[in-house]
Amino acid sequence: MTVTGAAPRAADAERQRLARRLADVVGDTHVLTEPALRAPYETDFTGRWSGRSLLVVRPADPAQTAEAVRVCAAAGVPVVPQGGNTGLVGGSVPGGDGTEVVLSLRRLDGIGPVDPGARQVTVGAGATLAALQRHVRRHGLDFGVDLASRDSATLGGMAATNAGGERVLRHGTVRANVAGAEAVLADGGVLNRLAGLPKDNTGYDLGGLLIGSEGTLAVLTRLRLTLRPRPPRRAGALLALDSLAHAVGVLTALRRLESLELAEFFTADGLALVLEHSGLPAPFRHAHPVYLLVECAGSHGPLDELAAVVGELDAREVAVAVDDADRRRLAAYRERHTEAVNAAGTPLKLDVTVPLAELPEFVAGLPGLLAGRARAYVFGHLAEGNVHLNLLGVAAADEEELVHAVLRRIADTGGSISAEHGIGRAKAAYLPLTRSPADIALMRAVKAAWDPAGLFNPGAVLPPAGRPGHTGGRPTTRHRGGLTWTARP
Ligand code: MLT
Ligand code: ZN
Repeated sequence: MTVTGAAPRAADAERQRLARRLADVVGDTHVLTEPALRAPYETDFTGRWSGRSLLVVRPADPAQTAEAVRVCAAAGVPVVPQGGNTGLVGGSVPGGDGTEVVLSLRRLDGIGPVDPGARQVTVGAGATLAALQRHVRRHGLDFGVDLASRDSATLGGMAATNAGGERVLRHGTVRANVAGAEAVLADGGVLNRLAGLPKDNTGYDLGGLLIGSEGTLAVLTRLRLTLRPRPPRRAGALLALDSLAHAVGVLTALRRLESLELAEFFTADGLALVLEHSGLPAPFRHAHPVYLLVECAGSHGPLDELAAVVGELDAREVAVAVDDADRRRLAAYRERHTEAVNAAGTPLKLDVTVPLAELPEFVAGLPGLLAGRARAYVFGHLAEGNVHLNLLGVAAADEEELVHAVLRRIADTGGSISAEHGIGRAKAAYLPLTRSPADIALMRAVKAAWDPAGLFNPGAVLPPAGRPGHTGGRPTTRHRGGLTWTARP
């Protein structure tokens, strides 16, 4: 193992000492100190959030993870837990000063035997969603949460961020699909709540608290997941509609169907970008203002059910998917938005929830709010009012003001400044927009109880103490979670 880079000599010596101790735990090849090897762990999926780590350590199992945490804690070196690094809010990459260790959980990718009676399975934090799907579908079962980044997103990362994705309207977010968790604590101890007992009222739900904690309280190492029967029949349709208000009306009608599993919206601009980037053929001969992708799944004729309701709706055009290949073709128009936006530039991504009734007005008000300072692509999960607002071409000087204006508007609608991507470092300063001082004080107390020395994921979720963040009016502090970030407009 050799150490290179431009860090001062003292930092290099510290890196060498820590690297040697960690190599004793995980082996030489799993401690990465060279900048080129560290680089993929230091920049997030969008390329927007980028930091610098002291080194990257890749344990093979929970015992090595606990030992690695102990070594870092003894050295007083902060730890940033990382799964598939598909996060979008700077919560899985280190800060900018090169003092943090990235703890990659990807090697913890084991998947245990399916328990068909309990309908549960235990997985390592580093197993990908796609690997889990392949494993459990052989048993006619499925995991309730699905998302476009399934090939790289890990279950540990999904649990840490309480990921939502495409099927929340039927199965809930990750929180509703986790029966137990195992985690390494800040002192290297292990919390084991993996039994997965459906009834177990013995004090605080500590494992549950880790879901959505974004690696700030402990390091998730294994999860006990709840599975569901995989419905044998599926049907999908893409509906071309007049407006978002029209889409909300259509969704209301479709919710009569128990088999409804997915309702995803996108707009003409987004579809044009996807077509240009992917080379896919257009789904219809003409462009339309808004598109709604829907899917039903069940044992008996979801296609008939779906067709009956869709027939009553005044959609401009409808494409129906009769088999899996067709369904995947239609789904691609929605799922390929993220990569199409990324290919067009480095987006400023705002993932928000708007109460459904307010959603059309919120989106209609965006041009006024943005005042020509960004190209906006809007898509998302309609049933939850989950809007993915992807902004391209934002000048660095406009960025904070734009983010604040949008999130302030969200707070005014009674929505959430983070629907499913989390707070990370990107939104820590904005937490006071929708969380009261009492709420934030309690969160700080929870953090202090789990992680008194502030070892885990510094700067994520909570604004650094003493920095109040944004509560209203115009932004007062230029602030990136207290860290030096490279944000590329
Ligand atoms: C998605 O649903 O495709 C992602 O969560 C959103 C995004 O890339 O903004
Ligand atoms: Zn999403």
